[in-house]
Amino acid sequence: MGAQSQAGNGSEYLLELNDLRTYFTSDEGTARAVDGVSYAIEPGQTLGVVGESGSGKSVAALSVMGLIPSPPGEVVGGEIIFKGENLLAKSPGEMRRIRGNEIAMIFQEPMTALNPVYTVGDQIMETVMLHRGIERPAARAHAIHMLERVGIPAPEQRVDEYPHQLSGGMRQRVMIAIAMSCDPSLLIADEPTTALDVTIQAQILDLMAELQREAGMGVMLITHDLAVVAQVAQRVAVMYAGKVVEYAAVEELFEEPAHPYSTGLFRSLPDLAGPNERLQTIPGMVPPATRFPSGCRFHPRCPIATERCRQEEPLLLPLAGAQTGRTLACHHREEAAAL
Ligand SMILES: Nc1ncnc2c1ncn2[C@@H]1O[C@H](COP(=O)(O)OP(=O)(O)O)[C@@H](O)[C@H]1O
Ligand SMILES: [Mg+2]
Repeated sequence: MGAQSQAGNGSEYLLELNDLRTYFTSDEGTARAVDGVSYAIEPGQTLGVVGESGSGKSVAALSVMGLIPSPPGEVVGGEIIFKGENLLAKSPGEMRRIRGNEIAMIFQEPMTALNPVYTVGDQIMETVMLHRGIERPAARAHAIHMLERVGIPAPEQRVDEYPHQLSGGMRQRVMIAIAMSCDPSLLIADEPTTALDVTIQAQILDLMAELQREAGMGVMLITHDLAVVAQVAQRVAVMYAGKVVEYAAVEELFEEPAHPYSTGLFRSLPDLAGPNERLQTIPGMVPPATRFPSGCRFHPRCPIATERCRQEEPLLLPLAGAQTGRTLACHHREEAAAL
């Protein structure tokens, strides 16, 4: 079931991407970074978006935020429906109001997203003063409360510190505090734990899950790490070369990945490959977005590709027998299932 089927008639989704296309112009030609992406998030649920670096995960998220630099980028097609309204029809002013207030985003490297010359308190206060129109003293109290909520010790002192005085894990907590400070209904987290060591990573994921339960917000969690997805997501979109190649409930995907690319991702996971299976990385590389192969974009790396795969692009279609809106873009469903 495509996300389309729900659109326009009182959608139950918080966010729906329908056939989104975001392209960049460059010297090498048009980069089709996001090239027909559909997925959806229900209120309170987490969608995991996975795929190797360069598959278009971040560009899709930045498109939702209205943060694609233009030029060179442009959303050239599709829809982004948030709470029943197409964000692509919003003015820059309306998008500024939505960003931070209704949809917040956190990034992999908090040091680049935080401003080094302002205290963490100032940066939280700026967000709430902008969106909520409250005065400084109340904003400061709210900032301290938010730091406490994200588990930062001694928040009354930390509120006056600068980003460089904090550890990587604490900085990511500050980013989450900023993101959560206006109670967004959607949080987009783009590789939020990639730069952190494993213990801190687990703490941050736990924190996000706890805040999500309290606030009932939807989460889009972008990661190249399937183990992280297993831990937090209900649904998963597997992206490759600007497209969703498989879209499934997390249990279905982990039980039996259907796309050869998904299978390849699992084989490269130490925890999930199983004791007797050798760890394998998928041979070859994600093609540049200016030069996608003909037919199925995965065919040069696919162990079961045929002539048809080289010629004809597979559509993302419902998987036979799937009860849960699972979809797959592969010409060789049967053989893929046996991989
Ligand atoms: N500002 C930009 N200008 C040109 N190409 C871009 C720009 N941002 C991203 N791209 C291209 O879009 C493709 C997808 O990138 P991205 O969404 O960042 O991948 P991911 O987040 O999955 O690693 C890449 O090929 C990248 O080079
Ligand atoms: Mg990215």
